[in-house]
Amino acid sequence: MEIVHSNGEAVTREDTSLSLRRCFGHFATGVAVVTYNGGDQPRGLTVNSFTSVSLDPPLILVCLDKRSRAVPHLAGGPFAVNVLSADQHDLAWYFAGKPVGAVPVWRSIGGIPLLEKSLAWMTCVPWARHDAGDHLILVGKVERFDSGREDPLCFYRGQFANVMRVSAQGGEWQAAARETANSTFLVD
Ligand SMILES: Cc1cc2nc3c(=O)[nH]c(=O)nc-3n(C[C@H](O)[C@H](O)[C@H](O)COP(=O)(O)O)c2cc1C
Repeated sequence: MEIVHSNGEAVTREDTSLSLRRCFGHFATGVAVVTYNGGDQPRGLTVNSFTSVSLDPPLILVCLDKRSRAVPHLAGGPFAVNVLSADQHDLAWYFAGKPVGAVPVWRSIGGIPLLEKSLAWMTCVPWARHDAGDHLILVGKVERFDSGREDPLCFYRGQFANVMRVSAQGGEWQAAARETANSTFLVD
């Protein structure tokens, strides 16, 4: 594989990975914790690769590093996606293997572990898995979900950030958010 930087300079594979990672980091994302039954205890890992995929059927995806401890557990087991709010960056560190004080408080829905508090959550059953280089793309079918109204935790260029609102007008999106606030949905 050869990736050439736009300035045309020859770069080593390590340089390429680092600068490609930096380039990817310009795409601002939210932050979520994927939680699952890790044998004898609930476990989770911080991700920013969460993407909504389909409404019918209701599908989401996350990309998992093949070295993640989650991979064997998520082979056939259910999991949850917990979208973090702006004040939950300590939990993001915790589930990235760098605890800074926060200790997760767990709850469970249908035997699937979730974080006690989050901005939004979805419980999922595995729907498909795709090999993708050093990662796996895990597609999940959403079974239950709910969402709140706090501000989201964001991730941009390697740092946690707050969302900056660029428009006060949400139109139909805002109306839909109001309608769905504070109610739990069950997908067929
Ligand atoms: C903001 C942020 C986003 C991350 N996104 C992902 C991701 O999408 N996929 C992934 O496999 N790891 C991601 N990581 C790294 C994992 O959270 C980290 O490697 C974790 O320690 C894996 O734990 P595990 O081996 O117990 O699964 C992310 C870390 C941070 C801080």
